[in-house]
Amino acid sequence: MKPFDDIWGRYKDIHGWCLEEKARYLYNHILETDPELVMEIGIFGGKSFFPIVEAVKENDVQLGLGNKNKKGGMCIGLEPWESAPAIEGDNGKDADEWWEAIDDRTWAGIMGVFYNLARGGNLMEWMEIHRTTSKDFLPVFTDMDRKLDLLHIDGNHSTEQAMFDVVSYTPFIKSGGYLVMDDMDWPSLETVIEYIERKLKYEWIDAITYNGNLCSCGIYRKVK
Ligand SMILES: C[S@@+](CC[C@H](N)C(=O)[O-])C[C@H]1O[C@@H](n2cnc3c(N)ncnc32)[C@H](O)[C@@H]1O
Repeated sequence: MKPFDDIWGRYKDIHGWCLEEKARYLYNHILETDPELVMEIGIFGGKSFFPIVEAVKENDVQLGLGNKNKKGGMCIGLEPWESAPAIEGDNGKDADEWWEAIDDRTWAGIMGVFYNLARGGNLMEWMEIHRTTSKDFLPVFTDMDRKLDLLHIDGNHSTEQAMFDVVSYTPFIKSGGYLVMDDMDWPSLETVIEYIERKLKYEWIDAITYNGNLCSCGIYRKVK
């Protein structure tokens, strides 16, 4: 079994937002729960996605399924690698300016580094990457008729887009499956978190990271 520290050594310097404690939590959670299908909305450079894929791969390798005909785990990643989707909705002036400043060449570079890391780490077999928005991918995924064991929502953090992701994609989570929500401390996510807790009645499992006293990333379980 590969220790997490070896894995993190490869990804800790990727430009992105995933903290070591979150990467460690997700890695260990996946080793324990052995999901068949994981989805991440919002990859950027892969700082959270790669530890997820490494854990899914590790489970298959442990089971002797590390070959092309395997029926093991798979990780779907959604990422448009362009600025327009990141500034849709009420993300705030600072965030809008930050995303708008990334030009097409820089986005292509971020995507290129992502694929180089994926190939270099021999991870391609365990990932399906869709260069699109969660909105455009929804009809495609619906047609695929697949169910998720773990959904990580870390895309556009406006109320409208985050709500769209939760409302549209949580129905695909299996009963007993998990939802990881990033940036729960953002004011724009307040109504989204309320919706998860009051309407969906998901069971709270853990705070994964904190921003001061506030939980900034947490994990829920779908009860039924
Ligand atoms: C906060 S970053 C993701 C960070 C990454 N998970 C990490 O840990 O470093 C959000 C990403 O979501 C992407 N994004 C924005 N809108 C999206 C949408 N509608 N569907 C999918 N991805 C989206 C952005 O391009 C951006 O790369």
